Amino acid sequence: MRIDIITVFPEMVAGVLDHSIVKRARERGLVEIQVVNLRDYALDRHRTTDDVPYGGGGGMVMKIEPIARALDALVDMEAPVRPRVILTDPRGQTFNQQMARLLAQEAHLILLCGHYEGVDDRVRQHLVTDVISIGDYVLTGGELPALVIVDAVTRLQAGALGDAEAPEKDTFAEGLLEYPHYTRPRVFRNWAVPDILLCGNHALIARWRRWHQLRETRAHRPDLFARLQLSTEDLYLLSAEEPQAPPEALEALRRAQHLPSATCETETTVDCVEADNQ
Ligand SMILES: C[S@@+](CC[C@H](N)C(=O)[O-])C[C@H]1O[C@@H](n2cnc3c(N)ncnc32)[C@H](O)[C@@H]1O
Repeated sequence: MRIDIITVFPEMVAGVLDHSIVKRARERGLVEIQVVNLRDYALDRHRTTDDVPYGGGGGMVMKIEPIARALDALVDMEAPVRPRVILTDPRGQTFNQQMARLLAQEAHLILLCGHYEGVDDRVRQHLVTDVISIGDYVLTGGELPALVIVDAVTRLQAGALGDAEAPEKDTFAEGLLEYPHYTRPRVFRNWAVPDILLCGNHALIARWRRWHQLRETRAHRPDLFARLQLSTEDLYLLSAEEPQAPPEALEALRRAQHLPSATCETETTVDCVEADNQ
């Protein structure tokens, strides 16, 4: 996949693309990302990309000509499929995981970062295929929104994540928020990891995780919850108490790790960590 980001602040964007999973995906050739300086397509020697608004009012408006010239340079008219050209704009369709999944299947995306008061509206009317907002708030420019889109789309490219981090387990993947995660130490400041995650019964752990996903989604995202197709098991889980580890499994675990019978106390955190590490 190829992604071009058109911006008047290329340095602001470039740094972010050189880290973590996006960097790895670029190195592996899963995604080719080019940051395009819009000023390179300006018409005058001052490399002007904005002008005062017609009709008066404060602020500057990004000019259409440099944008049109940049797009002409980036779009391969011979290519069988035209790129999706995305204008970042708070008036656009709100970005979500489903849009990320659709965009991730495209061969070529071009992201256009607005600034100042915004972009000459003829760009929106004639030059782009999509107008995307990343949420109901106004940022100073389209660079952060473009990076949000690039990040979400890149991590969905096949091979971008390790198997263990597979995107199908993510929040929103099935219309549910994700379950809580924990890692060592087992007890920190008397806050213990739920015992069930240590019991080794994967079917039970899966039920506990599903129980949390359903509860969290119902509590925090009633809009998502209303769209769920709940199974009989889901309906049962929603009415049930939080699944617990069977006492005998926990006792066996404690014996195997030479832990005291009671849940670890703060003072025993080190012992727990050591035991967990064995
Ligand atoms: C200061 S904003 C312009 C806001 C515009 N005057 C308005 O009220 O809708 C400048 C640029 O930042 C970007 N931007 C700001 N907030 C955004 C958001 N929530 N989603 C996507 N892009 C955004 C857009 O590219 C926009 O053209």
